[in-house]
Amino acid sequence: MASACATSSPLVSAPSACPSKKTSAARFRRRTFSCRATGGGGGGRGNNDGFLWLPRRDVMLSGLSGVAAGLAWYPGLASGADSSSSPCTTADKVNEKILLCADTDKQKPCPLVSPAAPVDFTPEGKVTRVRQPVHLLSREYQEKYKEAVGKMKALPESNPLSFKAQAAIHQAYCDNYYKYHKSSGSTVAKDDPAFDVHYSWIFAPWHRMYIYFYERALGDLIGDKTFALPFWSWDAPAGMVVPALFKEAFANPLYDPNRNTANLNALVDLDYLSHRDAKPIDFKGPKDEKYKELVNKNLCTVYNQQVRKGPESFLGEKFCTAIDGTSGMGSLERMAHTAMHVWVGKAGAKPCDAAAGGVLSHKDNGAFNCNNDMGFLGSVGNDPLFYSHHSNVDRMWHLWSTRMGGGQGITDPDWLDASFVFYDDVKSPRKVRIKFRDVVDTRDLGYTYDPEYDRDLPWLRPKITTLVPHGKDSGGAAARSSAAPPVFPLALTKGQVVEVPAVAVPAREAGKEQLLVIDGIDFDPQANNKFDVAINLPADKALLVGPQYKEYAGSFAVVPGSGAGETRKGKVSLCITDVLYDLDAEDDSTVDVLIVPRTNAKVTINVRPTIKNRK
Ligand code: C2O
Repeated sequence: MASACATSSPLVSAPSACPSKKTSAARFRRRTFSCRATGGGGGGRGNNDGFLWLPRRDVMLSGLSGVAAGLAWYPGLASGADSSSSPCTTADKVNEKILLCADTDKQKPCPLVSPAAPVDFTPEGKVTRVRQPVHLLSREYQEKYKEAVGKMKALPESNPLSFKAQAAIHQAYCDNYYKYHKSSGSTVAKDDPAFDVHYSWIFAPWHRMYIYFYERALGDLIGDKTFALPFWSWDAPAGMVVPALFKEAFANPLYDPNRNTANLNALVDLDYLSHRDAKPIDFKGPKDEKYKELVNKNLCTVYNQQVRKGPESFLGEKFCTAIDGTSGMGSLERMAHTAMHVWVGKAGAKPCDAAAGGVLSHKDNGAFNCNNDMGFLGSVGNDPLFYSHHSNVDRMWHLWSTRMGGGQGITDPDWLDASFVFYDDVKSPRKVRIKFRDVVDTRDLGYTYDPEYDRDLPWLRPKITTLVPHGKDSGGAAARSSAAPPVFPLALTKGQVVEVPAVAVPAREAGKEQLLVIDGIDFDPQANNKFDVAINLPADKALLVGPQYKEYAGSFAVVPGSGAGETRKGKVSLCITDVLYDLDAEDDSTVDVLIVPRTNAKVTINVRPTIKNRK
């Protein structure tokens, strides 16, 4: 019956510095991989993997198509209840002429103020830098990293490559300095929307650019062109703790006092916030059942994040001012990435003010945020760990492109042509204009990730079980739910599961995936937001759901940002083709969707979830 995540799995081993090359995956029925990217045509750049994932469902599809034909309409839309944003048909162009920094607060002026014209980025001819995991760095490399960051911190603030200036760049791009200025003229108009590098498909490439210039500056400072930004490998059991290198307080430029001390030495929870009140598990403590369970859940989280097919579900949806700044984060942003920000950040004192160590938000004119540094977007750049965290987020994108068949990812020219300006060259800083198309392949930036370390990815073989039986002998929908359908708009309450019975499943169309879309989400951007989504569970079991169960469809979670007293709009699109298959529901015309609120943040869902086919 309901089986908790099996902890005796041979797949979950105690952390080892050297992942085993042995795989026991064949002993388990693997989750099917139809949502995951397939191998794609071999031979192109980046297809050196040996992990060609077969689209098993595609083979079966021809036999399915008759079953649910005629169900290609969506009750949420048909009922007229869709008060949410209209679909984004074209992306907005993004370049340095359209994004204007509104220098309203002279205390914290816009970065990148030099009037000099930028030069265009030229791709690096060859790979000279190999990024390695922090927990496996040699002594010598650790010292190099400290020396480089120490020197960066010693630069005068007026140098755009000083540590302070680097942190200010991140703040500027997420704390309402920039406005999206479509019309002509060089001054910001009152109703120009704020521009943010989070919440959309801009997230991955922008952060890749940002830490690329950070890495090069560090190399310049120590006169070592081969210096590569080490990554915090929270995806491997041996890396599932804040790395020791960042924790020593004495004379350590990598140290930051603004972290949550309760979590510093604990095994990380990549699904953090679902069980925030649970006592942290000591990373160095006994490797007992609880420890192994969390290690496996973490591997399941990375697995679920990485296998989502379709560039938008992984990298995020179009940046689109036409839909009112709706957040359409991909799994790369809203899963492990978000969890580790919140995990490390100091857990917000209340009341929050300067005395409590809060940071003044630019946008909120006088409002403080106490989740600093890592837990508040305006201050994340103050923690040196942020850059190694993002080195790993970037590695996840790289692995998705090269190993999961994601390839180039988004091909939309509006995405590829988006350009930003950064600074290069510590000694005589100059502006460089760089486009997303320049950063799609890390080799054009002269770096890669240690291929030996990535030979055997531990999260490709986690143990995923079911909470309840499924299939024809399980009693089906009648055994699950007798609840009246919820009425939207619906305010979520932590711990109170929302059952949405009988959501129509349109017949799967060839070459497309089934997406569960929850649109019209209103949330408080300053709060810790998280809810999980499950399929075909009785409500009393839904609170147990997580990425280690097959009933898990995904999560909505956000790093707190500025916007005191405001409401932000969100949308989450979850690829569920494989979930339906795993639950023996791929022939069903409807499924039950469960929404599991995990925090006290104020969240309202305005429309009924729908399922649709999408390329
Ligand atoms: Cu710009 Cu992890 O955030």
